[in-house]
Amino acid sequence: MSIRKAVIPAAGLGTRFLPATKSTPKEMLPVVDKPAIQYVVEEAVAAGLEDVLMITGRSKRTLADHFDSVPELETALEAKGDEKRLAEVRRSTELANVHFVRQGQPKGLGHAVLCARHHVGDEPFAVLLGDDLIDERDPVLPTMIALQQRTGGSVVALLEVDPEQVHLYGCAAVEPLEGDDADQVRITGLVEKPDAADAPSNLAVIGRYVLSPAVFDVLDRTEPGRGGEIQLTDALATLAGMPAEQGGGVYGVVFRGRRYDTGDRLDYLKAVVRIAADRPDLGPDLRAWLTEYVQTLT
Ligand code: UTP
Repeated sequence: MSIRKAVIPAAGLGTRFLPATKSTPKEMLPVVDKPAIQYVVEEAVAAGLEDVLMITGRSKRTLADHFDSVPELETALEAKGDEKRLAEVRRSTELANVHFVRQGQPKGLGHAVLCARHHVGDEPFAVLLGDDLIDERDPVLPTMIALQQRTGGSVVALLEVDPEQVHLYGCAAVEPLEGDDADQVRITGLVEKPDAADAPSNLAVIGRYVLSPAVFDVLDRTEPGRGGEIQLTDALATLAGMPAEQGGGVYGVVFRGRRYDTGDRLDYLKAVVRIAADRPDLGPDLRAWLTEYVQTLT
């Protein structure tokens, strides 16, 4: 069954970015001049997923407002003849069919995904974490969607990380998958945030998933795990051990492109600098300034 829907969980507390995230979701923090979440919606749309469901928490309003139209702003820009900004303001409204559902309490990423059940129904769907930014020049979703269609199971994106970073992620045990692409693997086990000594590999799960709808029944039965939260990783570990006829089987695509965790302050700063440095409007001036600035650091 083809994939049409994207789910974007954005109901986390964002404690790593306090106090900025006290009243603003971290997904609304600007990366240059667009909120992080808009890059993520643009990525979903570029992969053909125009039906987007956001799972929101207590500060839903700014997220919803960003994807809504603002007639008075549009009228003011029209009156000024500022066509460029007018187009940018309209773009986020016209980008996708954006829906919202409230998580109620932040009981974990697995619980956030379970909140999408009614909207998604009985079809495979993508999950994109709203604070995980994948550079548009390095798309990974199309490969993941193709692998889901080929296998009928669930697919996660994997990143090779330094062994001492593994405790920050879900970590995968893998075996080769038949086919020519060594970056596509079968997942035999998953552990959430393991100590380096217990980690089955240095392959970390990052915030892109293409899931079989079988995940909903599994999440429904998944007890709170690490941190007292219902973990998507635990549900995926169960799916990895289930037969294909029951919607089981989990696969991985190793991602080798540019990606930023905008919920982490240092990674956020790197994202802003790298994306701005590559932009034709800001890049030349920023690069010149950065080059001078770097010399003052030595
Ligand atoms: P994180 O693990 O980054 O947690 O969530 P967090 O609470 O958002 O941020 P920190 O660690 O406290 O700074 C991973 C993703 O899952 C979503 C978050 O919005 C983020 O996209 N999430 C997490 C939910 O939607 N609901 C939850 O209950 C937990």
